[in-house]
Formats: sequence, C-alpha cells, structure tokens
Amino acid sequence: MAGVTRIKGFADMFPPRSEVFSFMENTARRIFAACGYEELRTPVLEPTELFRRGIGTETDVVQKEMYTFADQKGRSMTLRPEATAGVMRACIEDGRLAREGVSKLFTVGPMFRHERPQMGRMRQFHQINCECLGSDSPCADAELLLMLMRFLRELGISAVTLELNSLGCPACRPGYHQALKTFLAGLDRAGLCADCVRRMETNPLRVLDCKADGCRALLAEAPVLESSLCGACREHFAAVRRILEKADVPYRVNPRLVRGLDYYMRTTFEVISTAIGSQGAIAGGGRYDGLVQALGGPDVPGVGFACGMERLEMLLSAPTPSRPDFYVAVLESQGLEDGVLIAHTLRGLNLRGETAFTAKSAKSQLRHAQKTGARTCIILGGEELQNGTLILKDMDSGAQRAIRRDELKGAFS
Ligand code: HAM
Repeated sequence: MAGVTRIKGFADMFPPRSEVFSFMENTARRIFAACGYEELRTPVLEPTELFRRGIGTETDVVQKEMYTFADQKGRSMTLRPEATAGVMRACIEDGRLAREGVSKLFTVGPMFRHERPQMGRMRQFHQINCECLGSDSPCADAELLLMLMRFLRELGISAVTLELNSLGCPACRPGYHQALKTFLAGLDRAGLCADCVRRMETNPLRVLDCKADGCRALLAEAPVLESSLCGACREHFAAVRRILEKADVPYRVNPRLVRGLDYYMRTTFEVISTAIGSQGAIAGGGRYDGLVQALGGPDVPGVGFACGMERLEMLLSAPTPSRPDFYVAVLESQGLEDGVLIAHTLRGLNLRGETAFTAKSAKSQLRHAQKTGARTCIILGGEELQNGTLILKDMDSGAQRAIRRDELKGAFS
C-alpha cells in the first residue's frame, strides 16, 4: 500500500529547522516579556463567523483562502487564518477587557491560508503575534513598533525596511473613500485586473496595493490618504513617527500601504525584506480600534502585529548546535542497563548526553560518540563491568583515564 504523504503547502520540521523555530520563539518570549507581554494560547479552530466579522467579508483571506468545513453537526468551522480575531474573542469571553486597563498578549502558532504555495508562502505557516489592547495612545503603537524592531535585531535581522502608513479613522476615511472612488471611476477599467474591478466597488482601498503592473501604472496618480487625514489622526501619526525618530528607528512612509485585512485604522505597518523573493513582508500589523466592539465586546482600542516565522527563518543563519556533555559507550550487552543509569545520574547534574541501547565494538561506539559531538565518552566494557570502573575519554584530546563508579559525579562537577 502506498504511504500517506503530507498535504501540499504543509511542512514537517526536523532539526535544525525545529531548532531555528525554537530560537525564534525563545527570543520572542524574552523580548516581549520585557515590555509586559504575556502568552495566550487560543484554539486553531474557530466558528467561521468570527473571521467573517473580524477580518471582513470582502478580503482575499475570507473570500478565497480559508480552510472552512462543516463539523459533524453541520456548523461552519474554520482553521484560523490569523491570530488577531481569536485573541479578541478570547479576551471578550474572559472578561479581562473590562477588568484590566491594558492587556498585552502574544500568541505563537500555526495559521492556515489556502494560497498558492511558493517560496515564503505556505498553507500552514506560523506566526508570532502580539496584541496590545486598551490604549488608543500613539505611545502604544510606538512601543509595539520599537519592540518588534528590537525583536528582529535580537534575531540578527537588520537589513529590513519598516514601512508605515496611517489609514485614518471613521471620521476621515469616508472622505478619502469618496475621493478614491471618484478617481477610480475615471479610469479605463480595461486596464485594471479582474480583482481590482471587483474591489473598486467592494473594497476600494485594496486597489491601492495591487501588485499587477497595469493597475500600478493606472494608480500612480491616485489621491493619497495622508492628505485626507483629520487633525486627530494627523497628530496620532506624527506622535508615532516622533517616538520612532527619537529612538533612532528608521522607517519609510508608504502611502500605498493598506494591508489585506479590513480591521485596520490609523497606524498600519509592514516590515519588508528584499532578500527573500517576492513574499518579502516578514511582519505586518496596525491599529484596529473598532474590532473588539464589532466582535461583540466593549469599545476597547488595540494595536498589534504578526511576524511570519517561515519568512524570518529565511533571514536567519543555521544555529551552531551545542555539544552534548557525554556519550555512554556500552561494549557488552550486560552493561546496557548500567548505561541507562549512568546517563540518568549525569542528567541529574544538568548534563546532557545519551547512552547506547545496543552493545557494539569500542571502535563503532567511539565513532558514534564522535558523531554526536559529545565532549566525553564514558566507556563501559566487560572489564569495567567486572571491576566497577569506567573509562572517561576526552573526545577532543583523546586522553583517557579510568575512574571508580562512585567517582562519576565528582569527575563531572
Ligand atoms: P498578515 O499581514 O496577514 O497580518 O500576516 C502577518 C505576516 O504573516 C505576514 O507579514 C507574513 O510574514 C506572514 N504570512 C502571511 N501569510 C503567509 C503565508 N501564506 N505563508 C507564510 N507566511 C505568511 C495578520 O495576520 C494580522 N493578524 C497581524 C496583526 C496582528 N495585526 C494586528 N495584530
């Protein structure tokens, strides 16, 4: 019978990939904790309605990319395409938004989007996601951005561009929408791609960041959002930028940056790398003040971002594996159980290493010890078994000495 293979766009991760992912997660935990972020884990499966209401029915994610199916009772379920909507749902259900002034939460895990797989684009991918709920201050946006850029620097990622924009608020965006719609109405539709012709009616902002050459050329003269911002949005954006500048964090204002999810207002941003091909956005996010209320919660503002771990990974160099402390080479099968106990004793001293499960010749065991990178090989042969000793071989110098079994702990401390 043919074997079962993994699904297209989904990946298995053996070391060193899994180690790179752990490194990213551990670095995130350390950097985010310094700003007061705590970890939240939410389910990967949610009612479809959450994403339709949260992300917006006119987005590509909701229209084309969700893994949606009916469960045994016929209820529509969706594998989360992003973390934000689930985090909002969890916080509303928990009631913490009413109890706490500001909630800072991060989430790490797999997301699912049925896109065409290519370099940097998977159907199951992983995000490190942060949300700061409860403040509409530009200080919250700026702190989040400073934290994101510090996180990337700590990973060793520096050749990237932070792009910023402000999408305005419900007071000033309708004016811009109108100006944009008037501009779009004057264009030759034949020059636009099919998606943009549809978006002109349903989601005109999204036309702005279409990557098709024809659309780009036609939109070169489109009105920019910045000129329609109200005074409050203008000041909010200026404050975010001021803090970034004072903290020496470079950024570029990109008036075309509108993002693919509908919940954003005011600050939006992406971090772009030119080193990883066409899918160069390694992180994206922004402010989403109406989202919690739209999902049935209190009127609580928020700002957040998510990094794509597969894309971060492409910018990281492979980690140098740390060396185990020991390897127990067992030459006779009657020594195998002792090998397990010796390794157990050493692990109790916080040392790392393995023991053989099969007795083999000294030559083959030493070759294996070498392969594991162990610093010391503990040799347990027939003679040692008989007289209660062990041989310790320094794998770098080749020097070896015999010790009594009761000297084992002392030899390693
Ligand atoms: P997003 O821009 O859709 O935002 O995704 C964030 C990041 O996830 C992207 O910049 C990219 O690095 C990665 N990503 C997205 N799709 C894929 C894919 N198919 N394969 C690999 N990586 C991918 C959000 O998801 C928002 N929820 C971010 C946010 C949090 N906004 C506020 N809070």
